[in-house]
Formats: sequence, C-alpha cells, structure tokens
Amino acid sequence: MHNEFSQRLAVVTGCSSGIGLEVCRLLLEAGTRVVGMSRTLGELAPLQHAYPQQLHWLAGDVTQPADLQALARYVQPLGAIDYLVPNAGIAELAEGVQPQAFARQWAVNGDGALNTLAVLRGQLASPAAVVFIGTFLVQRSFPGLAAYIASKAALVAYARTLAVELAAAQIRVNTVSPGPTATAIWGKLGLPEETLAAVASGVNQRLLSGEFLDAAAVAEVVLFQLSRGARGVWGQDWVVDNGFTLS
Ligand SMILES: NC(=O)c1ccc[n+]([C@@H]2O[C@H](COP(=O)([O-])OP(=O)(O)OC[C@H]3O[C@@H](n4cnc5c(N)ncnc54)[C@H](OP(=O)(O)O)[C@@H]3O)[C@@H](O)[C@H]2O)c1
Repeated sequence: MHNEFSQRLAVVTGCSSGIGLEVCRLLLEAGTRVVGMSRTLGELAPLQHAYPQQLHWLAGDVTQPADLQALARYVQPLGAIDYLVPNAGIAELAEGVQPQAFARQWAVNGDGALNTLAVLRGQLASPAAVVFIGTFLVQRSFPGLAAYIASKAALVAYARTLAVELAAAQIRVNTVSPGPTATAIWGKLGLPEETLAAVASGVNQRLLSGEFLDAAAVAEVVLFQLSRGARGVWGQDWVVDNGFTLS
C-alpha cells in the first residue's frame, strides 16, 4: 500500500522528549526522513540507533539565530522540507505581572517557533505542511502561567494569518493545542513534588478519561494534520485535551 510519509523530509524542533519525540517516532516509523533539533539529545538516542540513516539530530537552541541558520544549512542538501513542526517549548511559573517571564517564554514558544519557519521558509516543498504547537490553556486560565499562555496565544493568532499568507505557495499552516500531557514539561515548572501531585490530581478530575494524555495521542493528531487527509484544514487550531476545556 502507498505510504504518503515514505521518503518525505520533516524538521521537528524540541525532539529530545515528550510530544516532539513522539512526532519523530511516528514519522520515522512511517518512513519519513527526520531532522530533529533540541539542545540535548535526551530520549532521542534510542531512535538514533534504530534509524541511523533516516534520523539526523542537530544540537541547537531555537532562540539562537546562529543555531537556526546552522539547521537551514544542514537541511539544504537533504532536499525540500515536506513537514515542519516547530514544537520546542518551555513553561515557567511566574506569579503576577512579569514582562520578563513573557519575554523568556516568547523567545522559545513564539519567536523560536516563528524564526524556525522563517529560516526554513525558502526550503519548504510545495505542497508542504507546518504544524505549530499551542496549548489548551489559551481557552482557560491557570494561575502562574499567564505569561506562558499569552506566549502560546500570540503564536496561535500569528499562525492563523500566516496560514492565509502562505496558502498561495501551497504551504498549509495549522496548530495543535495539547491538553495536559504526561511529559517532562510539568516537572520543569519548579513546583515541589507534593504541589505538583495536587495540581495533577485537580487536573485529572477535569479530564473525561480521568488521566493526562500520553504524548503519542497528541503526536498522532499532529501527523494527521501533516497528512493529505487534512488537505482541507487550513489555519485551524485543534485542541486535543481529553475533554479538559469542556468543563
Ligand atoms: N505537556 C503538556 O501538558 C503540554 C500542554 C500544552 C502544550 N504543550 C507544548 O507542547 C510542546 C512540547 O512540550 P512537551 O510537553 O513535549 O515538553 P518537554 O518534554 O519538556 O519537551 C520540550 C522540548 O523542547 C525542547 N526545547 C526547550 N527549549 C528549547 C530551545 N530553546 N531550543 C530547542 N529546543 C528546546 C526540549 O529539549 P532540550 O531541553 O533538549 O532543548 C524538549 O525536547 C511545547 O511547545 C509545549 O509548550 C505541552
């Protein structure tokens, strides 16, 4: 059977853990060549061993223009990019109004994602698909995460108009907004273990499944948005949240 992902080329940032790692895994399983970038290799190491020809990893920080330029140079000889997932992201707790907290998170979540697209724009295939990563919290509140939520909200808004601007080049831009997903990002918020457990328990009560999403559940939706099956989906933000935003 024809597999549309076979032999295609994808670039995924934030590939060393969580959702980005699962997007890489699914693409590799489907036969796509993947270039991943993150600051550390992390949990991508086993995939490097399993797919030595298909997977390329580049150490890099999406907030550093030189690293993004290096990514573009690395990808150039590999051919045109069919799929781009600027997934790298951070979340930082910050009580009250702290413009610097917004700046730090926008640097990765917004600027980092948009600059990844900007630097690779000329290397995208036609057609190509781009999936940005938002958050379910754009539709909700979460004390301490105002700056994080705002950084993602701006990205989602940016992506909607980019979708119109890039449509003429047959570049489809969409966003997937994950709900509470069991990844390392929660542990990096800096909450004491007991507080984190209490937060998780409160969140669980609002999830229709009663538990956090696993990263693959989000990654599978990302893959669908990249696929021809989603060829009619332009500039949309799909919330994948086990029902959190329903209550
Ligand atoms: N988990 C959730 O509940 C949830 C909910 C909504 C949205 N999201 C979003 O989903 C995306 C993936 O997050 P995750 O949950 O999978 O968390 P994660 O496991 O912490 O993964 C984050 C990834 O981003 C990379 N990264 C962070 N800063 C970077 C930088 N400056 N340059 C390059 N790479 C960087 C990390 O790798 P290195 O540290 O090795 O660089 C890691 O690979 C993020 O955009 C996040 O905001 C997550």
